[in-house]
Amino acid sequence: MGKTILITGAAGYIGSHTCVCLLQAGWHIVAIDNLCNSSARAIERITELAGRDLRFYTLDVRDYAALSKLLQQESVSAVIHFAGLKSVADSVTRPLDYFDNNVCGSVSLLRALHQQGVRKLVFSSSATVYGHPQQVPIPESAALSVTNPYGRSKLMVEQILEDLAQSDHEWRIATLRYFNPAGAHESGRLGEDPRGEPGNLMPYLAQVAVGRREYLSVFGDDYPTPDGTGVRDYIHVMDLARGHLAALERLFSHSGNFTVNLGTGQGVSVLQAVAAFERASGKAIPKRIAPRRSGDVASCYALATAAQELLGWRAEKKLAQMCSDQWRWQHQNPEGY
Ligand code: NAD
Ligand code: WQD
Repeated sequence: MGKTILITGAAGYIGSHTCVCLLQAGWHIVAIDNLCNSSARAIERITELAGRDLRFYTLDVRDYAALSKLLQQESVSAVIHFAGLKSVADSVTRPLDYFDNNVCGSVSLLRALHQQGVRKLVFSSSATVYGHPQQVPIPESAALSVTNPYGRSKLMVEQILEDLAQSDHEWRIATLRYFNPAGAHESGRLGEDPRGEPGNLMPYLAQVAVGRREYLSVFGDDYPTPDGTGVRDYIHVMDLARGHLAALERLFSHSGNFTVNLGTGQGVSVLQAVAAFERASGKAIPKRIAPRRSGDVASCYALATAAQELLGWRAEKKLAQMCSDQWRWQHQNPEGY
């Protein structure tokens, strides 16, 4: 408590919510972001909601010299590394940008941390590293594979972190595999503000409900799932934020490294998500059945017990709340920040 944490990608969707959570818990924050997929307004809203300041720098994690200088100025005890690109579709057309940003950016950060003697890191990984899962719910021990360059970049960083931890036992690394983040801060002041057409279901639903898009395309209704549509594990972004707090606390109290799923353990279909969003928003959501999206899996949800056992953390918020918070954010900020 009272220690300073470096947060990369702090202006982004998950980073901004996590900053609020950490500030409210008494941590100090040095925040960096190159704002390639976010707005500096998110930083203003973080301080407004938390009632405390953080120090923000517009900085790219690939800029090793600037990072090193920052770490010399600020006394950082640990890092939460959110910065990266996250669109599966973009990663297929621009793989080098994804490897450069997600892999080279992580290596640049790790070198700067190594140089400054910082040895505690929380890394944003993803359920994408399970590829086409062979079983659901998915335990952390499941086979890992990739279906696109984005997923490969996440798996590569996981492997780099394993090698790093082997090389120097001072490292304490928490690898968090998020399932499908959804929802927004309950105030409606912070939320996801995707640039261009949203690739993910929840922001798309919100933009249809608010009238920015005409209808939702449901990608496939012939999957081997109860209603034929894809099943996912949606997790409230504030639950996710609390998960980072729990992981950070564990790094300060225990040596060693760990990898955990952050999910609810509950599978929800696209049609169930649409119905829940209609109830939350009071809006009818026009939808059309479309072909399956390339690379999609039928069903993906977490075995969520490890995080509970190791961190004493579990997701608390239900789908109805994810939808009502997402709707409040979208309704109050129809064009984003
Ligand atoms: P986001 O795009 O909202 O946030 C990422 C932030 O990083 C953005 O503010 C962006 O401007 C910044 N950034 C990107 N490259 C940077 C760089 N080189 N230097 C500095 N800042 C940089 O995404 P998010 O949903 O908040 O995701 C955060 C992390 O969690 C990402 O690493 C993502 O891959 C991972 N993740 C996201 C999801 C999801 O569905 N949202 C699921 C699993 C894992
Ligand atoms: C959810 C369901 C779609 C949009 C992705 C990444 C994963 C992680 C989370 C970062 C699927 C369906 C969607 C739409 C639809 N991100 N859908 N119409 O694909 O589970 O995971 O985000 O790490 O790596 O792959 O999430 O929100 O895109 O899709 O029918 O317009 O909604 O087919 O069944 P996904 P999603």
